Amino acid sequence: MTARASRCQDFNPLFSFIGLGILCCLGLAGKAEAPSSKDRPAYLNPLDVQFLDNEHVQVDLTGVRETVTVALTTGQIVHRARWPRERPDSDPEAVKIHHEELRSLAAQLRPPGAGSIRAVWGRADSGWMVHTWPRFSLPATQLAQGWVFTSGLTHWTGQIGYLWETAVLDEPNNGFADPSDVVIAADGRRAYVASGGSDCVAVVDLTQFHRVASRVVSDTRNRALEPYLRTDDLSASRFLVIGRLPTQNNPRRLAISPDQRRLVVSNFLGDSLSVFDVVQLRLERHISLGGPQPDLIRRGQILFHSAKLSHLGQFSCASCHPGGGADGLNWDLPRDGIGNAKNTRVLWGSRSTAPYGWLGTSPTLADRILGTLRSMHRYEPSAEELTALVAYVSTLPPAPVAEVAPSERMAYERGRALFHTKAGCATCHPPPTYQDGLAHDVGTGKGQERRFDTPSLRGLRFSAPYLHDGRAATLEEVFTKHNGQRRHGQVHLLTPEELADLLLFLRTL
Ligand code: HEC
Ligand code: HEC
Repeated sequence: MTARASRCQDFNPLFSFIGLGILCCLGLAGKAEAPSSKDRPAYLNPLDVQFLDNEHVQVDLTGVRETVTVALTTGQIVHRARWPRERPDSDPEAVKIHHEELRSLAAQLRPPGAGSIRAVWGRADSGWMVHTWPRFSLPATQLAQGWVFTSGLTHWTGQIGYLWETAVLDEPNNGFADPSDVVIAADGRRAYVASGGSDCVAVVDLTQFHRVASRVVSDTRNRALEPYLRTDDLSASRFLVIGRLPTQNNPRRLAISPDQRRLVVSNFLGDSLSVFDVVQLRLERHISLGGPQPDLIRRGQILFHSAKLSHLGQFSCASCHPGGGADGLNWDLPRDGIGNAKNTRVLWGSRSTAPYGWLGTSPTLADRILGTLRSMHRYEPSAEELTALVAYVSTLPPAPVAEVAPSERMAYERGRALFHTKAGCATCHPPPTYQDGLAHDVGTGKGQERRFDTPSLRGLRFSAPYLHDGRAATLEEVFTKHNGQRRHGQVHLLTPEELADLLLFLRTL
């Protein structure tokens, strides 16, 4: 076995000129005018990467819709091609599926522990996935004593899981946050796993993996395996991770050369590639792809995705707010006491939806984010870091409105009219943000917590489950199952047909 793995902790100092943020007082930071996206430099955001031969890779630059060919030894771009107009934009948050035959299977796979799958490799009857393990069912104050998130590598064989093996890649005092991709060496003896939050690639010895992984043999569907697979053994990584290779900001995709000697990583927020010699387990070089210097918003985006801002590097903002959205989970965050878990809120368009939090206790984004960093991440940001994070969050655009099919136009118009009249929604949810900035009791609370900050209704179709504790699995349930007190607008007066029209309207916002 190779010598003990090095760590991926050397922090590239992002903020060499601290002057910028210091002048900006915290209260104002939330209101600062953020430049519109039109005026911003175009970052490259490299994502998918593949080898053409042992010396050349092709990389998709999703930020500028180009594909470039890079010679690895010289670091030069030798070819550049614009994407055809009809090619859709890439979604960097999409699960990376390495083999087409896994596409339909990936939708059925459930990682143990309700985490989210980030990448899948293999065949239908035998494969690998990397995923998170959020420990959301316990109060997040355990952060100092234990962990909140871990990252797992799971192997299955047999049609969706006869044999399951799983292991955690984090170390006890050094997290492996936001896993983003996995590739397996041709001889099946190694896995390479990227950690978008820890700026690192773990090299996993699969012979060791099969020896130390927690395993379950089952003829049931994998969902039933959750209690049997051990997801809390942080000591296992010591035996199976034989190298931790440092990348640049936010590695997202991996590729291995045909001769198996080189590994290339695309650093999504670093606008660069990292090239490793995986025979020697060492960095060959980082290759800058030539993007613009990070501006304040970009630096905020990098911090948002970095686990360096959390105790022991366990997670980033993006662990709970992937792509600025929400993970769909309830978290018992320390800032409002314990025993009152709240569903993660989406951050899209939040610039214009003050105050913040389900209880509306944060008047500005700066106040909210500083509170989260201190109480949840256990991290004291510099003024510059906080300003950058606020700048990034406040430029996240609202989710796009949905196209209404011509056949649904009438129902949409009826639904919209009901929203503004009979159903009585617009008083608290007025357009354009569909919230009023006030707290109301709509009969959903208990104990001391009865009044909640009216949530914006934009992008509802992407943000299930609903209500402050995520109790409504579907939009319909908000108004049926969870409106027992009939206090949520006048929705109880609607006929079933009218409710259907209203729901259709809500799904377009
Ligand atoms: C462990 C999961 C988790 C992490 C990590 C996390 N959040 Fe949150 N976030 C939540 C939850 C849950 C809520 C809703 C909590 C509440 O309202 O009390 C929330 C709410 C917010 C809100 C308020 C949104 C609104 O419209 O009211 C903002 C802003 C926010 N988070 C930003 C961040 C930023 C920036 C980071 C990183 C510094 C971060 N969050 C890290 C789970 C998380
Ligand atoms: C008196 C103010 C008020 C009125 C009137 C009202 N709402 Fe709400 N709405 C709220 C509050 C407050 C919440 C948050 C409650 C909670 O989370 O427990 C909420 C939550 C929601 C949610 C869940 C959103 C999410 O992200 O979880 C939806 C959907 C919604 N309202 C739609 C409507 C519709 C449609 C109407 C009209 C039938 C309506 N509301 C009328 C105040 C109101």
